[in-house]
Amino acid sequence: MSRIVIAGGNILEGEVNVNGAKNAVLPILAATILNGGINVIHNCPELKDVSASLQILEFLGCEVKRQGKTIIVDSSNIKDYRVPEQLMREMRSSVIFLGSIISKCRKAVLSYPGGCEIGPRPIDLHLKALRQLGIKINEAHGYIYCDAARIDANDINLNFPSVGATENIILAAVMANGTTIIRNVAKEPEIVDLQDYLNAMGAKISGAGTSVIKIEGVEKLHDVEHTVIPDRIEGSTYLAAAAITGGTVKITNVNPEHLQAVLAALRECGCKIYVEKNTITLSRTSTLQPVDVIRTLPYPGFPTDMQAPMMSVLTLARGTSIISETIFENRFKHVEELMRMGADIMVDGRVAVIRGVEKLTGANVNAMDLRGGAALVIAGLAAEGSTVIEGVHHIDRGYEKIEDKLRLLGADIKRVD
Ligand code: EPZ
Repeated sequence: MSRIVIAGGNILEGEVNVNGAKNAVLPILAATILNGGINVIHNCPELKDVSASLQILEFLGCEVKRQGKTIIVDSSNIKDYRVPEQLMREMRSSVIFLGSIISKCRKAVLSYPGGCEIGPRPIDLHLKALRQLGIKINEAHGYIYCDAARIDANDINLNFPSVGATENIILAAVMANGTTIIRNVAKEPEIVDLQDYLNAMGAKISGAGTSVIKIEGVEKLHDVEHTVIPDRIEGSTYLAAAAITGGTVKITNVNPEHLQAVLAALRECGCKIYVEKNTITLSRTSTLQPVDVIRTLPYPGFPTDMQAPMMSVLTLARGTSIISETIFENRFKHVEELMRMGADIMVDGRVAVIRGVEKLTGANVNAMDLRGGAALVIAGLAAEGSTVIEGVHHIDRGYEKIEDKLRLLGADIKRVD
């Protein structure tokens, strides 16, 4: 298993290009089933989670090919409506295939996605909403069996603005009979990107990015070409890396509008932020300041995916910060590992109190999940001495060549197989 080894202390300087958004391309790949034709998708990152989705598409009968950052999916010969357990276990967010397979095949059998490192990841909101569209769903033997002779539009209210549930309902309703309204939906930019993709296919969807989405069912969908939006979490992660080392880093090919909550927190830490049309430059020359409270919230609030990377930055602030993780049940697994590096953090339920320390020291640490792993890399960049990070496969799920990009910025970092 690979490890990442970092000799901390270098100041990051330079430019880093941000890839297409993992959490936009995953639902878009699920949507390629719907048009029974050609899907050309540009700006696709090379990530394990993307490869897992491509494996599912091929299993279902699609022809898939990658040309650099472009993925071409031909879904004209779908021959199955089942996703086997080992593919579902590869990536729990494969539950997003439920809506698109039902839409296209009117049947679907998926193994239960199960939990992951950050919590049980239930799908009750997905299933409740799909049942409201007239879809018959049985759960047995760890599988979800779905049947939909018809899919009838409905007026659906989500108890929580779940990203995945919002996406699954859109995918299931796009060719339903009638017009579906979904209220209290997730407003993430990735939902807007899915709407744009489907509308480019001939769907009639409006309201993504607001709390209410309207989907007018259509009969047919056609070939499509689309460019995926930039990854706001990858971009934010590199800004956090510059914040902790005290350098000047420019991230390019981003949409600054998507990072506003993170930029606000970084400014509160004492970073200078300069925003242009599709670039953001962060520099920190003064002492890192604490942030009173960071509360993770649905978009446009502070993103839960940046909770761990931001915590690493705050371990070296001149004072005490509080982080409240309101989205996931168990997303503090990086805390123990940061404490091995000398951080002073106290966790009480979903609240972490971070008392700034003078320095972090390099240590052997374990990445337990994707963003927690990124947090350990960020801490290692500033720690005194060498940090060895195990569990790099978690990090590779969401960051393309993280060590290469950081080395280009001046970090002393390498991957050891
Ligand atoms: C998406 O996960 C993202 N994944 C996550 O990113 C992200 O952290 C999350 O949204 C929140 O922004 C992808 O887009 C592939 P949710 P998702 O449904 O859809 C509870 C990363 O690091 N819930 O909004 O699973 C759930 O348990 C990943 O890139 C229910 O209770 O998130 C959680 O506590 C991690 N019942 C909360 O809602 C349901 O039916 C948020 O979940 C669904 C969700």
